Amino acid sequence: AAVKTYDFNIQVKNVSRLCHAKPIVTVNGMFPGPTVYVREGDQLLINVTNHAQYNISIHWHGLKQFRNGWADGPAYITQCPVQTGQSYLYNITVTGQRGTLWWHAHILWLRATVYGALVIMPKEGTPFPFPQPYLETNIILGEWWNQDVETIVNQANKLGLPPGPSDAHTINGKPGPLFPCSEKYTYALEVEYGKTYLLRIINAALNDELFFAIAGHTMTVVEIDAVYVKPFTTQAILIAPGQTTNVLIKADQPPNRYFMAARAFEDAPITVDNKTATAILQYRGIPNTVLPTLPLLPASNDTKFALSYNSKLKSLNSPQFPANVPLQIDRHLFFTIGLGVNPCSTCPNGTHLVASLNNVTFVMPQVGLLQAHYSNISGVFRTDFPDRPPTPFNYTGAPLTANLGTTIGTRLTKLPFNSTVELVLQDTNLLSVESHPFHLHGFNFFVVGTGIGNFDPKKDPAKFNLVDPPERNTIGVPTGGWTAFRFRADNPGVWFMHCHLELHTMWGLKMAFVVENGKSAEESVLPPPKDLPPC
Ligand code: C2O
Repeated sequence: AAVKTYDFNIQVKNVSRLCHAKPIVTVNGMFPGPTVYVREGDQLLINVTNHAQYNISIHWHGLKQFRNGWADGPAYITQCPVQTGQSYLYNITVTGQRGTLWWHAHILWLRATVYGALVIMPKEGTPFPFPQPYLETNIILGEWWNQDVETIVNQANKLGLPPGPSDAHTINGKPGPLFPCSEKYTYALEVEYGKTYLLRIINAALNDELFFAIAGHTMTVVEIDAVYVKPFTTQAILIAPGQTTNVLIKADQPPNRYFMAARAFEDAPITVDNKTATAILQYRGIPNTVLPTLPLLPASNDTKFALSYNSKLKSLNSPQFPANVPLQIDRHLFFTIGLGVNPCSTCPNGTHLVASLNNVTFVMPQVGLLQAHYSNISGVFRTDFPDRPPTPFNYTGAPLTANLGTTIGTRLTKLPFNSTVELVLQDTNLLSVESHPFHLHGFNFFVVGTGIGNFDPKKDPAKFNLVDPPERNTIGVPTGGWTAFRFRADNPGVWFMHCHLELHTMWGLKMAFVVENGKSAEESVLPPPKDLPPC
């Protein structure tokens, strides 16, 4: 196994998009940031040095970090942030995973500009379980704000209101030629007729689930969240913030210029869509003057497409890559997702918006939870979440206007080492119904079931897919519906779980699991590195 070393210098750079220039936080002055390439089994040493005036931490989204939460990255969960002028070495061993993941800042809203791809090549001599592509490329979808994002967020928080939406979606940091001043901020992929290409698609957007399609071309989905799936062909993909999707495309259409496009899937009220990002798929030899055609994308309220697309995702489940779905479950958990309002003495209208799991709004601690757990520091968190069995209730019935308030706390769920967990996430009608992409750190999980309306513990489990359910690290809980997933708690440490809509994370739609040590040293959290940032 090799050792791969990267230097990540966090620095501010002036960047211009949509006729607006502004300073943004970057890694090495790049936007998007550098791609980290590694081979399964290798060790990654990434030295993060902070030259910016913001505290920072970097999360390696989807990497399992066995026993090594110290390198996971979420600020105040597994580490304190790297302060201005300080460095921290993320020491990561990549085992048992191959495919496309990504990295991003995990503090405040800095991931708006601090993100990049993390590509894990299979072990030497291990081919992909699909046709070898001629070339591969990253397609990173994101969001761009004309104003400074931290300023917008701080102002909104003072008022207790949501910050305004972004001004454009982007593909590899570029909005594409449909926006003003954006002709030169257009990503183009040149292809040769007859060849097959692998696109590593990443949704790095902060708050938008996205459709992505390429005019004239179908895509064959082969992998999601760095796990191979049974290949299937589709006109468009749906990808939630945090998720990754690998597709193969064949350049087999009349040589021309074609648009790729990313547009929001918004199941809430459909607003005017003026944020669609475009990029160009260009056959070799076609002049830049030819006008490209736009792909057909599902309508932004097309929940039917969303449901049907998600139902096609199945683990490859081959002898080489089996789906090890836990069949016996030690702990059944049921979390409700709610948006609400709490009193706020400093807000003009006396309230601010909050989000909650089982009506608890998570409060960020002042010290890292993993340190508190490792060193037995008391008073930082409690492990009494959830405290009551959920009462049968019509969660998605008539609009709930009462009981919008939540309790607050830093409350975690304790799991014995190697225990098996089934978690049902139920969206509720508190304030608004919308799709929530939930991300679990430290593990992959198997999405065994999903449905619209209220989860029925008597009937729904009988329909679970325990054979080849998709295995991933981020899953959208459908609007007014539920999702059930299973995982084995075989990674000791403290692991964050949250909605990957940054807005909802900020409002408290998050919690963490404490997975206890096993009996042996090999089943216990590693000692913390010497340079772990102090709070
Ligand atoms: Cu991609 Cu906790 O995040």
